[in-house]
Amino acid sequence: MMQTTTRTTSFEQIKSEALIVPVFEGRKDPRFGAADLFDAGEIAGKPLEMTLLHHVPGVAAIRVLLAGAGKPEKFDAAEARKLAGAAIRHLKAKSVKEIAFVLDAEHSGPDYASAVVEGAILGDYEPDRYKTGDDKKSVASFTVVGDAAGLAEAVATGSLIAEAQNYARDLANEPANRLTPLKVAEAARQTASAYGLECEVLERDQMASLGMGALLGVAQGSAEPPALIVMRYRPEAAAAPVHLGLVGKGVTFDTGGISIKPAEGMEKMKYDMAGGAAMIGAMRAIAQLKPAIPVTAFIPCVENMPGSRAQRPGDIVNAMSGKSIEVINTDAEGRLILADALAYARKQGCTHLVDAATLTGAIVVALAHINVGLFANNDAMRDRVLAAAKAEGERMWPMPLEDEYKEYLKSPFADLANVGPRWGGAVTAAMFLKEFAEDTPWVHLDIAGTAWLDDSKPYLAKGPTGVPVRTLVRLATDWKG
Ligand code: BES
Ligand code: ZN
Ligand code: ZN
Repeated sequence: MMQTTTRTTSFEQIKSEALIVPVFEGRKDPRFGAADLFDAGEIAGKPLEMTLLHHVPGVAAIRVLLAGAGKPEKFDAAEARKLAGAAIRHLKAKSVKEIAFVLDAEHSGPDYASAVVEGAILGDYEPDRYKTGDDKKSVASFTVVGDAAGLAEAVATGSLIAEAQNYARDLANEPANRLTPLKVAEAARQTASAYGLECEVLERDQMASLGMGALLGVAQGSAEPPALIVMRYRPEAAAAPVHLGLVGKGVTFDTGGISIKPAEGMEKMKYDMAGGAAMIGAMRAIAQLKPAIPVTAFIPCVENMPGSRAQRPGDIVNAMSGKSIEVINTDAEGRLILADALAYARKQGCTHLVDAATLTGAIVVALAHINVGLFANNDAMRDRVLAAAKAEGERMWPMPLEDEYKEYLKSPFADLANVGPRWGGAVTAAMFLKEFAEDTPWVHLDIAGTAWLDDSKPYLAKGPTGVPVRTLVRLATDWKG
């Protein structure tokens, strides 16, 4: 774990292996002899442009990394987070372990301090825990240099949020042989006991008594038993009329079932529990930040396999809510397990719901790997989640969810089909979920395109991203009951 601290000392006196200093576009920085470099055109201050200086006179640090921050008026906390991540990845590639970040005088408040720490911790993450080499590089300490009020607290908060996000990334990255549904439940239990949450795991029999036929239909094709994880956070002073439910898709591996997927790229379907992982990560941070409202996470965990007991296309299952579903395609399994989890969350008294799921390939077609697809049955709830996402620099884009789309889910044999025709696949999937959120204010986040990076970014390794942990944490902590 990276050590994080704050220092108020003037940056010239900070002894570290490297000092990161943001430099801006259109502002010729007079420090470190950089003015010449601006004049020569070597530095422009463009976003994420990195210039490493050695032996800078008058500076105690061994190196100074001039980190391009772009236009000063565009430099918000989200940009600061990316900048810190990119700078730290630049330095750690050169085996630098001890780093300080000098907050810019005009961008120096607590929101910048926490963003910068988050960027550093997220940028340091590598999905390489099973590599055995001794050449793995990581940053040992990160110091934020600044003197605004509240920096120490902001750094501590940013650190715990980013560590929780990295925990979600670790879970999403675990291969399916090592992380079965019962192992996810074990991870949730450990998290709960370490951070003081309640945790309950419903087994197959309990789910059967509750009538969760949609979830159990998916589970029946695998030898691995299913689990419905429930994690509870309760504030000390209760009495808030609000109870937030976080529902995360926990398919530990998605073969497609009998409607089996092609071999090419199937190995990536280990991250089909990224939504569930994000909920466990968010609950870990929520337990530490103690928001005013009660929050409960529900994570239905199954492995979608084509075993001899697997459900078949054409099977009709009964969801807990009472609706019957014709399973046209067994690869549309996420919505089936979420149907029962959403209904259970409502039954448990949740007044507001957010789900996160790697639900459809269609959302990747629509929004690529940039935006989370956001669907809502309630404008106020949609705006709350969008505001939290914006503040946290997690891109989300509102998608339509009009009643007309329900037509596409008609079945001649059951109340609903689990898939619609080819077009609008992300919307029909969301429409299916809406039938189970019913009249509870609800937001659905389709993270199929954003939970995993196929290529690294300057500020983030390739692999699991931990989206939307930060948005969920802020949603809970900003909610004033
Ligand atoms: N887990 C997949 C969705 C997915 C696709 C996640 C790509 C991450 C990357 C989901 O269970 C699925 O298979 N959806 C099908 C639905 C179809 C059968 C209607 C899809 O999107 O192809
Ligand atoms: Zn699937
Ligand atoms: Zn899936």
